[in-house]
Amino acid sequence: MQEEIYHIPALLPQSLEALAIKPDGVYVDATFGGGGHSRAIVESLGKEGHLYSFDQDEDAVARAFEAPRFTIVYSNFRYLSNFMRYYGVDGVDGVLADLGVSFHHFDDAERGFSFRWSGALDMRMNRKSPRTAAQFLNTAPEEKIADVLYLYGEVRAARRIASAVVRARAETPVDTVERFLQIVKPFVNPRQEKKELAMIFQALRIEVNGELDALRSFLEQTAKVIKPGGRLAVITYHSLEDRMVKNFMRTGNVEGRENKDLFGRSDAPFRLAGSKPVVPDAEEVERNPRSRSAKLRVAVRNAW
Ligand SMILES: C[S@@+](CC[C@H](N)C(=O)[O-])C[C@H]1O[C@@H](n2cnc3c(N)ncnc32)[C@H](O)[C@@H]1O
Repeated sequence: MQEEIYHIPALLPQSLEALAIKPDGVYVDATFGGGGHSRAIVESLGKEGHLYSFDQDEDAVARAFEAPRFTIVYSNFRYLSNFMRYYGVDGVDGVLADLGVSFHHFDDAERGFSFRWSGALDMRMNRKSPRTAAQFLNTAPEEKIADVLYLYGEVRAARRIASAVVRARAETPVDTVERFLQIVKPFVNPRQEKKELAMIFQALRIEVNGELDALRSFLEQTAKVIKPGGRLAVITYHSLEDRMVKNFMRTGNVEGRENKDLFGRSDAPFRLAGSKPVVPDAEEVERNPRSRSAKLRVAVRNAW
């Protein structure tokens, strides 16, 4: 049997450079996954340095390596500042987040993240959380399902798909990938089936995992935990996340509202390093096609 590749980290050297790692610094990797970024960070640290890595998925945490100067935190990154307080960390020198799901999520049929496999329509990164994608589709009001598909997946047939789900679930629950595909396929353009199904699945996944709420809360906390001069580096994989990250780094809020004091000075806690995101080069995309939509944005904590 071929051994599963848990994950291949995207933009690895660029992320390390973005963090400008100090050997005695304290760092956070908010998304451990297969540990590619974490391992490289730990290897850059000296005796006084430390890395705290978060993941809300028990599969990722179970495979975490052990190393001096390294702590794995089995939690959603939305509890970043609570955990820093718990570990007695006053301020950190850098935070990295590589958002979304790992290859493992897509490649493990039982997790229900991919339209390529048959199985339960689950999609929870944290399997202790109470609501699966199937539970959402079987209980949410039609309007909510349509909003999720439209807002999180830009699915043009969102209303028609939501209505078809509600009709179908009145007969039998929509609880497997196959059954969901039967319902949505008539609304998908066969010429770009993969792309459209990916957007539909992405929308459900974002809802099931409360991804945008967690990201907002996490970003707000980075302003509290990162020291002046410290770095925030975030890799996103779709435009909704990228917009939130860019707005936050520029203005201090995910909506991108410019707040100025009486003297017209911005009170944004970070300054964005570079106006354009860092993206993988052709060689990386060739080697790791799943990195193709990655965008790395970097910001430096101001002194206030
Ligand atoms: C793209 S992978 C990270 C890959 C990692 N950088 C590596 O090198 O292997 C994203 C990981 O973040 C985790 N994750 C996503 N959202 C999270 C959240 N809100 N809190 C904690 N972990 C999260 C997922 O479970 C997944 O393992």
